[in-house]
Amino acid sequence: MRSLELAPSILAADFSRLGEHLKEVEDLCGRIHVDVMDGHFVPNLSMGPQVVESLRPVTGLPIEVHLMVEKPENFAEPFIKAGANRIVFHQEVVERPANLAERIQSLGASAGVAINPKTELSADSSLLALIDLIVVMTVNPGFGGQAFLLEVMPKLDSIRKMVEEINPTLDLEVDGGIDKQTAPTAVHAGANVLVAGNAIFKSSDPRTAAREILGSVARQP
Ligand code: DX5
Ligand code: ZN
Repeated sequence: MRSLELAPSILAADFSRLGEHLKEVEDLCGRIHVDVMDGHFVPNLSMGPQVVESLRPVTGLPIEVHLMVEKPENFAEPFIKAGANRIVFHQEVVERPANLAERIQSLGASAGVAINPKTELSADSSLLALIDLIVVMTVNPGFGGQAFLLEVMPKLDSIRKMVEEINPTLDLEVDGGIDKQTAPTAVHAGANVLVAGNAIFKSSDPRTAAREILGSVARQP
C-alpha cells in the first residue's frame, strides 16, 4: 500500500531556530517542503538557496523545493547545488515541462509538477513517467495559513485515478490548509503526501500537532 507522508513546510517555522524547530518533528516526517516565492508568480517573497544550504547538514530527510516563481528554469540548478533532492515547478509557467524535468534529473534531483486550485493537469503520459510527484494546491499559492479549498477534491480524485493507471509510483501531494481536520478529506480523495506549515509550526507543541495529523489519517490494520 502506498505510504502516507507528512511534509512540514518550513515557511511557517521560526527562522531564528530553524534547525531546532525541525528536529522536533523530523522523525515523523518523510520530506521537508521549502516554499520559494518570487513576488511575481505569487505576490509574496520568501527564501533562496541559502536556506537549503543551511538545512542540508542538519537533516537527513529529502528536501523538496516548491518553486512558486515565474522562471523556475533559472532556479532549479542553484537549489540542487544547495542540496535540494526534488524540484517542484508550476505547470502554469512552464511551456515544455518534460525538458525542465529532464534537466532537473540530469542535475541529480527528481522533479515534480504543481498546479494551482483552478488549473487542470495537462501532463501527458511521457511527462508522468519522468516526474515522481504531482502537487495539487489546496490554497492559492503565496501565503501560509490559508483555508483549505474543498472544491479541489474532485480534481484530486480524478488525478489519483489517472495516476493509478499511468504511473502508480507517483506521489500525489496536497499543499495548503492541511491540518488534522482537512487531512482525512485529502487522503480520501487520493493524496498520499501532506504538506503542513501552520498546523505544525504555529502550534505550541509541533510534535503533538504532527502526530495528530498523522493520527487523523492512520490506516486501520
Ligand atoms: C502556499 C505554500 C504552502 C503553505 C503551506 O503558498 O505553497 O506550502 O506554506 O502552509 P499551510 O499549511 O500553513 O497552509
Ligand atoms: Zn508549498
